Amino acid sequence: MRHYMFILLAVFAFFIAAGTASAAAPAALHECEACHGPNGVSPNKDIPIIAGMSAFYLDGELQAYQKGLRPCPKTKYPKDAAKPATDMCDIAKKLSAADSTAIDKYLASQAFVPATQSFDPKLAAIGKQIHSQNCELCHTNGGSVADDDAGILAGQWTPYLQETFKEYVSGKRVAPDKMKPKIAALMPDKINALLQYYASEGKK
Ligand code: HEC
Ligand code: HEC
Repeated sequence: MRHYMFILLAVFAFFIAAGTASAAAPAALHECEACHGPNGVSPNKDIPIIAGMSAFYLDGELQAYQKGLRPCPKTKYPKDAAKPATDMCDIAKKLSAADSTAIDKYLASQAFVPATQSFDPKLAAIGKQIHSQNCELCHTNGGSVADDDAGILAGQWTPYLQETFKEYVSGKRVAPDKMKPKIAALMPDKINALLQYYASEGKK
């Protein structure tokens, strides 16, 4: 009987150890953290916060970069000006499938920490309405739900989102079929109102 108890305990200890191991940050995340910040919580306004997004979404975006289906502007390392600029297409191509899976799973287990940014409250109120009428269907709860598999808009950096809107409007980043007409109908003033709304959702 003692024997069985011991084996049972050993099995438990194994699972606890395995659980801890999978919760540790994968080594390949270091490269990402140079730009996306500790655990993917980017302190850099041009670089998206990627902590807390769904593994499905992250995986899809990395594949899009790998295949060149998403524009990837050249980016400098924020803390290392001497290091040559690179871009997400290059980074994604160099990433092994196993590293990508490990990183996506780890980031999905982390909390999305919204950026604190200034915003215009009047425009944010208008943006909230535009969002409810056009975007809430897929970007639920103000664009804050990771399980929508559509990124996280609430509290994302405004300069990053602004660039993203430009890419969608110009067609350089291909929007999902049903999102395309919604984005195409947005005049610049409406995009600005939406940006103010998403920034307002990051307030403390
Ligand atoms: C040199 C800086 C840099 C490094 C290093 C870097 N990224 Fe990025 N990443 C960016 C920038 C800038 C963007 C936004 C590019 C754009 O406009 O599409 C981005 C975008 C992304 C996105 C899309 C986010 C979204 O909301 O759609 C994902 C996912 C991502 N990076 C994952 C990673 C992973 C994983 C690594 C490490 C293997 C990594 N990045 C390393 C700069 C970097
Ligand atoms: C029919 C569903 C649907 C609707 C409606 C929709 N979206 Fe999306 N959106 C998505 C999906 C899915 C993605 C992920 C795109 C991908 O896989 O490249 C996305 C991605 C985005 C992104 C990129 C997020 C990132 O981190 O880079 C932004 C910004 C965005 N949507 C804004 C909007 C806005 C603003 C509206 C309303 C005017 C809207 N969407 C309406 C489904 C939708």
